[in-house]
Amino acid sequence: MPSGQYRIVERYLRDAQAERRALAAGLLATPAVIAPKYFYDTLGCALFGAICELPEYYPTRTERAIFNEHRDAIARALGQGKQFVDLGAGDCCKALAWLAFVAPSRYIAVDFAGDEIARSLARMAPDFPEVEMLGVVADFTRGLDLGRDLTRDAVTFFYPGSSIGNFTPGEAREFLTSVHLHCVGREGSGLLIGVDTKKDPRRLTAAYDDAVGVTAAFNRNVLHHVNSILGSDFRPDAFDHVALYDEGEGRIEMHLAARTVQTVKLPGATRTFAAGERIHTENSYKYAPEEFTMLLQEAGFRRVRRWQDGNGDFAVFYAT
Ligand code: AVI
Repeated sequence: MPSGQYRIVERYLRDAQAERRALAAGLLATPAVIAPKYFYDTLGCALFGAICELPEYYPTRTERAIFNEHRDAIARALGQGKQFVDLGAGDCCKALAWLAFVAPSRYIAVDFAGDEIARSLARMAPDFPEVEMLGVVADFTRGLDLGRDLTRDAVTFFYPGSSIGNFTPGEAREFLTSVHLHCVGREGSGLLIGVDTKKDPRRLTAAYDDAVGVTAAFNRNVLHHVNSILGSDFRPDAFDHVALYDEGEGRIEMHLAARTVQTVKLPGATRTFAAGERIHTENSYKYAPEEFTMLLQEAGFRRVRRWQDGNGDFAVFYAT
C-alpha cells in the first residue's frame, strides 16, 4: 500500500432483522431494556461529546490528565514499533496523542462506525506515511477476533474511556480474556486501558445526572433512535431520566421512567408502561483498582502496572 494511505476491512456481519427483533423483544420484556449501543446515533454521539465536557463528568478529563502527566512512563512501558490497536476508535483523537510516542508499525482502528473511522484515517494517514493504517469495522463487544487483521508482531491494545464499565463484570472478564489471547504468542504485547473507580455515590450520580440536563437528553434521545429503527412512537419527553448508584453492584444505572401511563406501538405489538415504570438503558460499573487488577489477572495477564490521578478518581492500567 503506498504511504499516506489507509485500508478499511468490513468484519461486521450485520443482521438488521435479528437486531430489530432483539430490540423489540427487550422493549416487550419486564423490566424493559434497551442496549446502550442504541445511544450512539448521530445526535447521540454529539451529546456524548458534550457529556465529556461537563463539569460533573470527570472521567474524560481525568484520564486525559493521567495520560498527560505520565506520558513518558506509560510510553516506556508500551515500547515502540509495535502494532497499535485502538478499540472503539471513533474519531481516533485519543490514540493520536500516543502515536508520536509509541511509533507503531501499524495503526488499527476498530469500531462499528465504519464511516467515522474512514474519515479519521483519511485525515491522519498523510501525517504518518511510515505507519500502515487499517480500519476494521467490527462490533468487538460481541467478541474480539482480529486473527485476520494482525501480523505475528507484538501488539498494544488501547481501550480508553472506561468503556469496559459498560460490560457486566462477567462480560468484561470474557472480553479481557479475548484481548489476552490475542497477546499470547506475540511477545511484548499488552493492553492499555482506562477504568473509572468507585467513589462517593453523590459524585457518581452527579456525573450521570448533570445540572444542565445533557445526560438526560442523551438518555431520552435513545427513544428517537429506537423510533427510527422500529417505527415505534415513543415520546421522549414523556419519560424522565433516572440515574442511580447501586452500591452492592458497584454500578451506575440509567433508566427512563414513564411520566404517566402510556401505550407505545412496536412492530406487531403494543406495550403499555405504567406511570413510573422504567426502561433500563445502561449500566456503568465502577471498580476499586485492586478489583480491576484481579479481573486482569483472571483474564490471564501476569504483570499489571497502574497510574492514577491524585484523588484516585480514575485508573489507567497497562497489563502484559
Ligand atoms: C461510554 N461510557 C464509558 C460512558 C459511561 O460513563 O459509562 C457512557 C455514558 N453514559 C452516560 N454518561 C456517559
